[in-house]
Amino acid sequence: MVASFNTNLVTLNGFINTQEHKHPEATGNLSGLLRSVGLAAKIVNRELTMAGLAEDILGETGNTNVQGETVKKMDVFANEHFIAAFRRGRRCCGIVSEEQDDMVVIDEQGAQYLVCIDPLDGSSNIDVNIPVGTIFSIYKRISKDCSVTKEDFLQPGTKQVAAGYVIYSSSTMIVYTTGDGVNGFTLDPAIGEFCLSNPDMKMPDDGKIISCNLSYQSEFPAFVQKYVHYSFEHDKATKRPYNLRYVGSMVADIHRTLLKGGVFLYPPTTDSPKGKLRLLYECNPISFIIEQAGGASTNGKKRILEIEPNDFHERTPIYCGSKNMVMRMMDMQ
Ligand code: AHG
Ligand code: MN
Ligand code: MN
Repeated sequence: MVASFNTNLVTLNGFINTQEHKHPEATGNLSGLLRSVGLAAKIVNRELTMAGLAEDILGETGNTNVQGETVKKMDVFANEHFIAAFRRGRRCCGIVSEEQDDMVVIDEQGAQYLVCIDPLDGSSNIDVNIPVGTIFSIYKRISKDCSVTKEDFLQPGTKQVAAGYVIYSSSTMIVYTTGDGVNGFTLDPAIGEFCLSNPDMKMPDDGKIISCNLSYQSEFPAFVQKYVHYSFEHDKATKRPYNLRYVGSMVADIHRTLLKGGVFLYPPTTDSPKGKLRLLYECNPISFIIEQAGGASTNGKKRILEIEPNDFHERTPIYCGSKNMVMRMMDMQ
């Protein structure tokens, strides 16, 4: 009896090819851009796994970014490697990055796609070995016969052609959507390939986890305080009290919410009256994934994806996750 071997290994590149073949009109340019994400993710992953031993990669640069936030050395490393990968991949005409004040214009003849990116999300957790991530969003340019323009980047999230995140944790994964469901790929470091591990990811409609930074609770809008209070009441029939889980890395909190269900919220606070999280390269890509997996994501008034952006680094409140839980929270307004 010949032993049978698992030969149906689906790599990220193989999956991208299969998806491309489903669209006869595809030019292969989006596929090329997604491959650049995979390459840069492997480079960042390599650096992160060795950060504690490598020379001079942990800690802060001593600078602050346009957000007024302390920039970690790994923020700069990730930012430079993702931008370099997009330049080398020759499919990208421009980038808005959390770590760049202004847009990066790439004069690449014929390139139709632009990227909004948070090169390293949750970077304040790096030095204590808590999971971090990369979040990316891809749009088709609307301007023609010129360099990429500010308006190209200020499209609503509904216009995204692809979005995803990398989570650098006990395993490193890429989770992304092109509008046809959500799929997760786990890096096999032995062969250097991201392999399909979570096909067609669906978020449970309900859950029993609430994820938010409760130190700001007294500053939350009244409906949010009401929902937090509701979450901690004892009622077996509705699985309350919910568990409180908050990593402080959006990608880690969202990944758990996607798999287990629950709600993730970052409401307005005194320090961040418009919310802390950025629309273009945190809330829009994450909301695209959440909606594609059957969840909901709102700023308290409308779908995050319908917000018309005015600025590269604008912030928004976000309430997202299992749709029944998000709706229950919104009903408390
Ligand atoms: P970044 O490291 O890219 O600036 O993002 C950090 C964000 C997000 O990852 C997380 O959800 C949030 O900051 C945590 O904020 P608080 O520490 O205020 O809870
Ligand atoms: Mn972030
Ligand atoms: Mn960041």
